[in-house]
Amino acid sequence: MKILLLGKNGQVGWELQRSLGPLGELVALDRHSTGACGDLSNPTGLRATVLALRPDVIVNAAAYTAVDRAQSEPDLAHAINAASPGVLAQAAQAVGALLVHYSTDYVFDGSGNTPWREDAATGPLSVYGQTKLEGEQLIAASGARHLILRTSWVYAARGGNFGKTMLRLAGERERLTVIDDQFGAPTGADLIADVSAHAIRQVQRDPACGGGYHLAAAGETTWNGYARFVIDTARALQPERALKVLEVAPVPTSAFPTPAQRPLNSRLDTTRLRQTFGLHLPDWQSGVRRMLAEIL
Ligand SMILES: NC(=O)c1ccc[n+]([C@@H]2O[C@H](COP(=O)([O-])OP(=O)(O)OC[C@H]3O[C@@H](n4cnc5c(N)ncnc54)[C@H](OP(=O)(O)O)[C@@H]3O)[C@@H](O)[C@H]2O)c1
Repeated sequence: MKILLLGKNGQVGWELQRSLGPLGELVALDRHSTGACGDLSNPTGLRATVLALRPDVIVNAAAYTAVDRAQSEPDLAHAINAASPGVLAQAAQAVGALLVHYSTDYVFDGSGNTPWREDAATGPLSVYGQTKLEGEQLIAASGARHLILRTSWVYAARGGNFGKTMLRLAGERERLTVIDDQFGAPTGADLIADVSAHAIRQVQRDPACGGGYHLAAAGETTWNGYARFVIDTARALQPERALKVLEVAPVPTSAFPTPAQRPLNSRLDTTRLRQTFGLHLPDWQSGVRRMLAEIL
């Protein structure tokens, strides 16, 4: 099996380089790759790459993920999150490849307090969410075999992440204020990559398993609960670490105004993914604990 991976150096892309490796020959590109075009702002180059390589599977981990900046760069966000995934889907259809793509809880409006199912009505609150939704729609309309995995609150050991920021602040201040009215599940890029590899194997054997799925770690928390878990776990793993923080105060989202509005309810119902692929999704704490053990 030949696999083309785009966005190889992002959080998920980096972990996919590991998890896709055993499935077959992997061609991994980023926007700076030479020889073959992996730049999602260059649809002509992308199409040429797919037609030349004729992969069995295309995995697109590249995206415009700067949620706030997207509000002032809607055209670029649209090109990368919607138009180019649409071009990739057409090229995938032309060569008979399976297209694997990632999307987000930000396609929902965040109302209510029950987990979103795949068929729930969308209602993005931001340019990022809108462009990711348009990407999904273009892929679904292309006729290409596809897997679209919507995920949430992604973190990875590599690069910056929310947990690292909280640990830095906890070392500097006695009191932190962290939002406690957005609900979701922090989901490791490593889990997303491993589930992707399992799902690809199954869809290649049984094309009827394709389509859209929600993929997130089990359980739920708020950013405030996430921050407290990170600090408590760091204290347990590394008692000698000097953390000044005494209080992680809960505040509403309105305390931190941002250009892009975030959904309050980011809970994703993962039943369809677990049942279709026979997979177990571990609770969010086990992945965060493991990430902390790696970085501390
Ligand atoms: N992060 C989250 O919390 C989250 C939540 C839900 C869903 N998702 C979705 O999950 C997927 C993976 O996200 P992630 O967390 O791994 O994001 P990430 O770490 O920001 O990685 C995105 C990658 O896309 C690359 N990229 C940006 N513009 C590009 C272009 N024009 N051509 C080629 N590559 C380009 C970036 O490269 P540079 O570093 O060079 O810019 C980066 O390596 C995305 O589809 C995202 O929408 C993410």
